[in-house]
Amino acid sequence: MAEPRVVVYPGSFDPLTLGHEDIARRCLKFADSVTIAVAHHPTQHKDRLFSVVERVEMIEECFADEPRIEVAQFTGLLVDFCAGRKANIVVRGLRAVSDFEYEFQMALMNRALYPEMEMVFMAPAGKFTFLSASLVREVATLGGDVSRFVSPPVLRRLQERIGG
Ligand code: PNS
Repeated sequence: MAEPRVVVYPGSFDPLTLGHEDIARRCLKFADSVTIAVAHHPTQHKDRLFSVVERVEMIEECFADEPRIEVAQFTGLLVDFCAGRKANIVVRGLRAVSDFEYEFQMALMNRALYPEMEMVFMAPAGKFTFLSASLVREVATLGGDVSRFVSPPVLRRLQERIGG
């Protein structure tokens, strides 16, 4: 029997945007299961808006309709998290050429650490190519309307956190 296609989709997801959601749902076309893995960045506390636990809760709400998508958090190396789950595919979204260099370096480092794993890069729907969690954070924090860029569970938490 063919090996199950166990996908990990890692990131900071602070917060999850419609672009992230689009990528995760696209993964279901070829994956048996998708784990959205929220990374702890112990050194980057100052810029964060939501705790890792809050992010996990929001993402679970956004994918409540999709039993093949699971949400988890991880500390340490992505490759160790993937090895522990027997995940053989890591997916990252690529929006523009500017994403490429960082992603390519990470892919090759991850391969050096864990050759069994493949990195797959996916393009989001064209309408989301400008979207990033950091821009959503900035616009929301400055009072802009981000309702077109995030799902209702994320919007609700943004409103609770920032007000408005
Ligand atoms: O959404 P982001 O912040 O671009 O995601 C980056 C992430 C979480 C995928 C990356 O920082 C990561 O894999 N962190 C875990 C630690 C690790 O494995 N570092 C080595 C990467 S080669």
